[in-house]
Amino acid sequence: MTTDAGRAAATGRVAGKVALITGAARGQGRSHAVQLASEGADIIGVDICSDVAGIPYPLASPDDLDETARLAEEAGARVVTAQVDVRDPDALALAVSRGVDRLSRLDIAVANAGVCTIQRWDEVDPAVWSLFLNSLPINVMEPEDVSDAVLYLASDESRYVTGLTMTVDAGTTAR
Ligand SMILES: NC(=O)c1ccc[n+]([C@@H]2O[C@H](COP(=O)([O-])OP(=O)(O)OC[C@H]3O[C@@H](n4cnc5c(N)ncnc54)[C@H](O)[C@@H]3O)[C@@H](O)[C@H]2O)c1
Repeated sequence: MTTDAGRAAATGRVAGKVALITGAARGQGRSHAVQLASEGADIIGVDICSDVAGIPYPLASPDDLDETARLAEEAGARVVTAQVDVRDPDALALAVSRGVDRLSRLDIAVANAGVCTIQRWDEVDPAVWSLFLNSLPINVMEPEDVSDAVLYLASDESRYVTGLTMTVDAGTTAR
C-alpha cells in the first residue's frame, strides 16, 4: 500500500481522479490499473486473491495484487489495495471506504472482477472457437485494448456519454 503523501502534480487524461478497480490483481484489471495510473489517476484495487469453489482454474494470489500495486505505483499512482470478494457487499463497501479515506475521493469505478465457468481458453475445442471468429483479422485481443476503452470512459473526453454499453470485441458480436 502506498504512502499518504499526495501525488505530485499528476498530468494525463484522468489526472487527479481516483479509480476503483475490482479484479485488479491480474489480467485486464491490472492493465486498467496501470493505464489509468499512467494517465494520472490514483487507484483503489480490490481482488478476491483466492480460488472460488466450482471455478476450474486458479484465480489471482495476494502476490499478484501486490504486483499490480507495484506497477501502478511505478506509473506514478498512489495505490490502496484490499483482498475482497465483490460478492460480499459489506466487505467491499468497507474496502472502498478505506480507500477513499486514504485518497480523498472516488471518481471512477471499473467493475472488472469476474469468472468464466465454461472452459479455459486453451481447452476449448477448435470447432467451438470457429463459432467465435472475430470480424477483424486477429486471434486474441490484448488487455490494453479494453483498457483504452476504460480510459476513454473514465476521462473528461466522455463527459457527454451516458448510459452506453461499449462493446470491445473486435466485431465478434456484430457477426
Ligand atoms: N479475457 C476474456 O477474453 C474475457 C472475455 C469476456 C469477459 N471477460 C471478463 O473480463 C473480466 C477480466 O477478465 P480477465 O481475462 O482479466 O480475467 P482474470 O481471471 O485474469 O482476472 C479476473 C480477476 O478477478 C478476480 N476475481 C474473480 N472473482 C472475484 C470476486 N468474486 N471478487 C473479487 N475478485 C474476483 C480474480 O482473482 C482475477 O484477478 C472478467 O470479469 C472476465 O469474466 C474476459
